[in-house]
Amino acid sequence: MVYKIAVLPGDGIGPEIVSEAVKVLQACAQKFGLTFKFREAPVGGAVIEAAGHPLPEETVALCRKSDAVLLGAIGGPQWDHLPVERRPEAGALLPLRQKLGLFANLRPVILYEALIDASPLKREIVEGTEILVIRELTGGLYFGEKKRQKIPGGEQATDTLVYTTPEIERIGRLAFESASKRRKVLHSVDKANVLESSRLWREVMDRLHDQYPDVELIHMYVDNAAMQLVRQPRQFDVIVTENMFGDILTDQASVLTGSIGMLASASIGGKVALYEPAHGSAPDIAAQNKANPLATILSAALMLRYSFNHEKAAAAIEKAVAQVLDDGYRTPDIMQPGCRMAGTVEIGDRVVEELLAL
Ligand code: IPM
Ligand code: MG
Repeated sequence: MVYKIAVLPGDGIGPEIVSEAVKVLQACAQKFGLTFKFREAPVGGAVIEAAGHPLPEETVALCRKSDAVLLGAIGGPQWDHLPVERRPEAGALLPLRQKLGLFANLRPVILYEALIDASPLKREIVEGTEILVIRELTGGLYFGEKKRQKIPGGEQATDTLVYTTPEIERIGRLAFESASKRRKVLHSVDKANVLESSRLWREVMDRLHDQYPDVELIHMYVDNAAMQLVRQPRQFDVIVTENMFGDILTDQASVLTGSIGMLASASIGGKVALYEPAHGSAPDIAAQNKANPLATILSAALMLRYSFNHEKAAAAIEKAVAQVLDDGYRTPDIMQPGCRMAGTVEIGDRVVEELLAL
């Protein structure tokens, strides 16, 4: 079996973190007798000049005919002034998610033992955290109608928050299924005291709950969820929420793990899934061998788990990462006293070494 992986390095630290993840996947291939065929394609700001657009047709075509997509990060201040459809985020990342039908973004918030004291939150608070955030990814404010119009005194800008019953049902079902395989606690996060879309969201979740009686369903307002996440994160098992709330809450939740540089993600729902770190392109530290590649490496583990059904290889990557952290190697974002500062490449090399030694 040959697995075809589309590799989209993107902008900023994208290329360097993706190289490390590819290196780790190659080590997995060697260890587990798998065959990966990597094909690279351009995406994001870096390709706007050459292609006139941040998401060339050929890149989408390559993704569609691959078995999975590995993406680094896109965007940077030099492209922020462009019209919205040509900006890397709105012109490439969001359409790519939509074109591939990736309606569910899974962001596992896993705290590695060695990093308990790397979080700015107290050990007693973060210890034992293990949350799966399921963020709806192709609806809500991100994709609703947007407009601007002139009005006396200036302009009026509108973003629309739209959700339909089928959209909520499919993400809800996935969340209940996931929770039923875990600790069976599902927090559905909304703002039903204010938003109509959240009231529909709540109704659909309640209806679905009838089919999953063994899962405890807890509705929580998003403001309260933001507070509970840093107050008592252990109460959460699976969180399901709409696109924008999920974007915000996962950046917040990443701090429980030590750094956003640790947060992996899998965007699933279509034929071809996409794996990318939850963080951005960090242009300020690009090409300095300072970026933490672990979120991307852990995203590669999710690829093995969800797209290739190879739990053994996925778990091996996660174990190798834990070992590297136990041995004290740290990129600057998770540096702690007594640990050894390591660059992007060295972290990748260490993970490979541990993986092959398992
Ligand atoms: C993320 C990012 C993106 C998002 C940006 C880059 C458009 O923040 O994947 O969380 O908001 O979805
Ligand atoms: Mg985000």
